[in-house]
Amino acid sequence: MHEGLFITLEGIEGAGKSSSLNYISELFICAGHEVLQTREPGGTDTGEQIRKILLDSDNIKLESSTELLLMFAARSQHLEEIVKPALEKDQVVICDRFTDASYAYQGGGRGIEELRIKTLEDWVQLGFTPTVTLLFDLDVDVGLRRAEKRSQADRFEQEDIMFFKRVRSSYLQRASNEPIRFRIINAGNSLEDVKQQIHKALQEYL
Ligand code: TMP
Repeated sequence: MHEGLFITLEGIEGAGKSSSLNYISELFICAGHEVLQTREPGGTDTGEQIRKILLDSDNIKLESSTELLLMFAARSQHLEEIVKPALEKDQVVICDRFTDASYAYQGGGRGIEELRIKTLEDWVQLGFTPTVTLLFDLDVDVGLRRAEKRSQADRFEQEDIMFFKRVRSSYLQRASNEPIRFRIINAGNSLEDVKQQIHKALQEYL
């Protein structure tokens, strides 16, 4: 395990985790910490190239197993090149999505057996896990409507509503299995209320 503070943000599309990233960074910066913001898939040059393949809606033939392997390939690079060195320098690392997304999207969404995901997690991470995970939870219809307004749909956003319902319930299942690591943020509430929930969820680390 690691000594540093590794915070991950999770949730379906449109849950507002990306827009909460800056707010979370500010909280830690104001408390005197050095902060590194990053994301998955991506966060490194190689990872961002892999991200392009994963999100490109022209890649209609991409197999679920290839998708999963690419997620973990990007993760492996990200951990070694960015995340672990930052934690060693005592920086607070805030990451937009991590391995819980692989369980929720490739497991829940695509139907890949959990054990296969766990095998890759063990192989790539060797027991490395987030310190705390904020799960931005909201109704799937609301999330998808918000995401639709934002930009052109990527390969994941083109999935149907049932896919995202499976993703959401997989996230909630993981949160109930690991109640200490996960903090659920009710992302359907007002922005001000969401900020208050985030502050409360992270107070002990500030
Ligand atoms: P983002 O747009 O929220 O940055 O995430 C990109 C997409 O990648 C999002 O639809 C979720 C998906 N994803 C997975 O399917 N598995 C993963 O392990 C990760 C990190 C992301």
